[in-house]
Amino acid sequence: MLTPSIRILSKLFISKLIFFWMANSSSVYDWFQERLEIQDITDDVTSKYVPPHVNIFYCLGGITLVCFLIQFATGCFGWLIRSVHRWSASMMVLMLILHVFRVYLTGGFKRPRELTWVTGVVMAVITVAFGVTGYSLPWDQVGYWAVKIVSGVPAAIPVIGDFMVELLRGGESVGQSTLTRFYSLHTFVLPWSLAVFMLMHFLMIRKQGISGPL
Ligand code: HEM
Repeated sequence: MLTPSIRILSKLFISKLIFFWMANSSSVYDWFQERLEIQDITDDVTSKYVPPHVNIFYCLGGITLVCFLIQFATGCFGWLIRSVHRWSASMMVLMLILHVFRVYLTGGFKRPRELTWVTGVVMAVITVAFGVTGYSLPWDQVGYWAVKIVSGVPAAIPVIGDFMVELLRGGESVGQSTLTRFYSLHTFVLPWSLAVFMLMHFLMIRKQGISGPL
């Protein structure tokens, strides 16, 4: 328990700290405002009109994004919080499917939003690729045999099929090179590809606004 005098002193200290922070942050703000007119960005973000037909189902894309951010953060500490990464992966796929349902059922893909839909399809493919590559990374029996099956699928493609399989596996059969490839895809290629397509998705949504009511 703090004695009353210490409590008053600490309150004074905290209010001084807050005052100091506000006084300084406003001068930091003024400095940037004078040079870059940053207020315009705040005004743009806070004045965006949200039409009345927008309901909770229009949050599903944003929730998918939150899942991705959780995946990004927990992926960096994979050994420590692997279960969160695993659960959130399933949640991301579920939210993505529900988001596509919402967009489809409200006609959100129609002109002029075709390109938003196309970037979405690419993101859906990348998300599935995340799942497939991530599933194999524990390199246990389930993971190993899943890679064996999945990496053999392109063999059905005429002419280039066998080459594709070898490219994916890093050799004739599934082995250490396959794991390295799946790991690089999962932790580098796919995250940054998804980030690029998300940026395109969001810039288009921002530019065109949300689609109208049915
Ligand atoms: C990682 C995956 C994805 C993320 C993070 C994402 C995120 C978002 C967000 C935040 C919105 C704004 C409105 C809302 O949330 O409903 C949106 C809209 C949209 N998304 Fe996605 N999305 C993803 C995947 C997809 C997929 C797979 C498709 C289609 C195949 C798609 C097509 C669209 C379209 C067409 C819109 C505009 C809808 C409208 O204006 O009504 N998205 N997305």
